Amino acid sequence: MRSLKNILVTGGAGFIGCNFMRVLLQKTPEFTGRIINLDHLTYAGNAASLADIEARFGAQGSGRYFFEKGDICDRVLAESIFKKYNIDTVVHFAAESHVDRSILGPEDFIKTNVFGTFTLLDIARNAWKSDDGIMRNDVLFHHISTDEVYGSLGNSGFFTEQTPYDPHSPYSASKAASDHVAMSYHYTYGIPVTLSNCSNNYGPYQFPEKLIPLMILNIIEGKPLPVYGDGKNIRDWLFVEDHNSAVWGILQKGRCGESYNIGGDNEWENIKLLHYLIKIVSAKTGLVQTKVEQTVKYVTDRPGHDKRYAIDCSKIKKEIGWNQQYTFESGLDKTVDWYLSNKEWTDKIKSGEYLKWIEKCYGTRN
Ligand SMILES: NC(=O)c1ccc[n+]([C@@H]2O[C@H](COP(=O)([O-])OP(=O)(O)OC[C@H]3O[C@@H](n4cnc5c(N)ncnc54)[C@H](O)[C@@H]3O)[C@@H](O)[C@H]2O)c1
Repeated sequence: MRSLKNILVTGGAGFIGCNFMRVLLQKTPEFTGRIINLDHLTYAGNAASLADIEARFGAQGSGRYFFEKGDICDRVLAESIFKKYNIDTVVHFAAESHVDRSILGPEDFIKTNVFGTFTLLDIARNAWKSDDGIMRNDVLFHHISTDEVYGSLGNSGFFTEQTPYDPHSPYSASKAASDHVAMSYHYTYGIPVTLSNCSNNYGPYQFPEKLIPLMILNIIEGKPLPVYGDGKNIRDWLFVEDHNSAVWGILQKGRCGESYNIGGDNEWENIKLLHYLIKIVSAKTGLVQTKVEQTVKYVTDRPGHDKRYAIDCSKIKKEIGWNQQYTFESGLDKTVDWYLSNKEWTDKIKSGEYLKWIEKCYGTRN
């Protein structure tokens, strides 16, 4: 029986991590433990995404939530956190997560995603061994990964857990490497490890350099809507809460040494998705849809841009009993409403650094 009493969430100030903590603390009554969030607060980490959690569950609230600022590569710090909170579960979200940034500067990706993951696993290896050298079996290291490790699909077929890894960007290569390190720690040292490879997420609190929030904000602000290449790249979209309920399912029932694909069964060409988004945002804000459509701008494609991702997630459905709860319509509805009513959150992010960065990514127009 897994303990799940003291969960170390890494990267909890990021998009998926902060939503995960909300799912656990607010919507999962069977979880009665504590969450310790270790986050370096990089450009993608945002303390403002944690304010409500801190108020309700932090020291002034129920005392079930703790924040530790720091780098997962810092062994001394991470080791002390394991001891201080008697960590029995790790849910490892922390990563450099944006493909475009990895193309322009891969070093941080290798450091955080590969070396950082190794550091945490190595600490767990020592912390979870009993005095007689036997690995505890009530602990778990769950490593969060991406479907991008599998490379690109043609017009048909799906990624299964058996699809060979074939990463094409420094981001996906660093995630692939970290997946292998995680599994090697299971086979070599007996650490209970599970792994999940998820498709593209969307939802509240996502940093607006990623497609869906970037487009929502640009539509609202009347800015150009940049589309890479011919816009025909296909992604499988999943609402972030559905990703997180899958992770919670794995924490409870996942078999050690197994990986689980998580997806939305929801493939969209980027350009079709953009037109759908324009329709939704225009309807909610009173903008004229045909006028907004004129702001779509094709820009030079991303180097090595994978054509199509599609996930076969039948294994997690069968073994864990997980299923998506949101349709694309209901998930996007929630997401657009959130961005429309959280202007303060987005305004803070859109500093000079952010604007320069977006220009760097999408600056070259065809
Ligand atoms: N966003 C997606 O669509 C998606 C899809 C599949 C898998 N994933 C994976 O899910 C995880 C979370 O993704 P996200 O979109 O929430 O990312 P994000 O970029 O929004 O958040 C990453 C968080 O990690 C923190 N962080 C970065 N480097 C750190 C370090 N060295 N030490 C401590 N904290 C550090 C950042 O401060 C930030 O809070 C990643 O592992 C990513 O690879 C994401």
